[in-house]
Amino acid sequence: MSRTGFEYRQGTMFAEEVSLPTIASAVGTPAYVYCANIIRARFRRLAHAFEGIPHHIHFAVKANSNLSVLGVLRELGGGVDIVSGGELYRALQAGFRGDDVVFSGVGKTVAEIEQALGAGVRLINVESEAELVVIDHVAGRMGVTAPIAIRVNPEVTVETPHAYIKTGEKGQKFGIPRDDVARLVTFIGELRHVELRGLGMHLGSQIGNADPLRDALPRLLAAVAFARAAGHPVSFLDVGGGLSVPYEAHEVPADIDDYARIVRAAARDTGLTLLLEPGRYLVAESGVLLTEVLYRKHAAGKDFVVTDAGMNDLIRPALYQAYHAIEPVVVTDGELTADVVGPICESGDFFAKDRSLPNVQAGALLAVRTAGAYGFTMASNYNSRARPAEVLVDGNRFAVIGTRETFDDLVRLERASLQWRTA
Ligand code: LLP
Repeated sequence: MSRTGFEYRQGTMFAEEVSLPTIASAVGTPAYVYCANIIRARFRRLAHAFEGIPHHIHFAVKANSNLSVLGVLRELGGGVDIVSGGELYRALQAGFRGDDVVFSGVGKTVAEIEQALGAGVRLINVESEAELVVIDHVAGRMGVTAPIAIRVNPEVTVETPHAYIKTGEKGQKFGIPRDDVARLVTFIGELRHVELRGLGMHLGSQIGNADPLRDALPRLLAAVAFARAAGHPVSFLDVGGGLSVPYEAHEVPADIDDYARIVRAAARDTGLTLLLEPGRYLVAESGVLLTEVLYRKHAAGKDFVVTDAGMNDLIRPALYQAYHAIEPVVVTDGELTADVVGPICESGDFFAKDRSLPNVQAGALLAVRTAGAYGFTMASNYNSRARPAEVLVDGNRFAVIGTRETFDDLVRLERASLQWRTA
């Protein structure tokens, strides 16, 4: 099998052992297609790099929250990183136990904190003093001790392809600025219903090199040392996610061994259990968005390829000017330079601008690559479009793991006849 699970066989693209035209005829387009064995391979690769040191891989559910994808990772012994009550609900539905869960996020509600404590999550990552006070209060009311970690903002310089996916720089809304950590640690010592069990960080997503990690780890470990000296039972070091994946042909995959070497070296002799929160790395390359060309269009000297998928299905190009490779499912002759665009009434609705690609015609299937992370999870119903189907391939079998929405689904929660209430 190829590195991503997708490859041409006699001119037709396959996902593992299943041809994409087979899937398109069975479920229609647009559809997300994921390769289970690639997700497994990535998980094992990462676990292998951390072999021999206590660690847990907590998949960032926001990257791909389909119950069956979560199930693949649970079967391998993974845990999850969640950022909402909805993600916690999904994780439990997928069979994870409370102890498999780390709860991150800058704005947890009282209801979400109750839900997390009720489920017995491994850690709640605290992002502000105000939130800490609420967690302590809720835990006290429930008669439990909340296991917490401080999410530190190490304030390092982070290079990411887009500003929106940086998090560990100064001035971001995330985490406790490193200079404020000592004060918060002392404050935690005064609270009765929380226990400081970890320190964590998340530097950003799609981080191209190891420099920010190298800069940030000593800062995080200084916070661990301070917390331990103050008597807190710190046993977890959460290094967040952020491992990059190649989207363009010239990009190279993240060096997992290098990453592991740096993290392992920092954690050595600390007795800490590492928590890793990869999202994209585990699932991005395992997935494509399968779409059909509806029309070719020539206007104002330009060529357009109009697809049946739009920015509501995959928003990354519109939101981050993100690059996704686009390949015809059946090898096609000829060359074309075109904008690949969706049917949505927005100029931002494109998958590629001035892209050279084979001379695909109406009816052709295209694979928008590297769409397994932050694809379906960021899909919307904009323009009242039903969200696409999701399919999991596992060797020579495939299953629908997310049914295409219907028009009924679109209006299910809305009311045409109103029950007015008086003020
Ligand atoms: N942990 C925390 C606390 C996070 O906030 C994130 C991602 C992760 C882990 C996983 O990061 P990853 O390993 O996937 O890089 N929608 C954007 C990405 C936003 C990432 C937000 N946080 C995109 O499509 O590129």
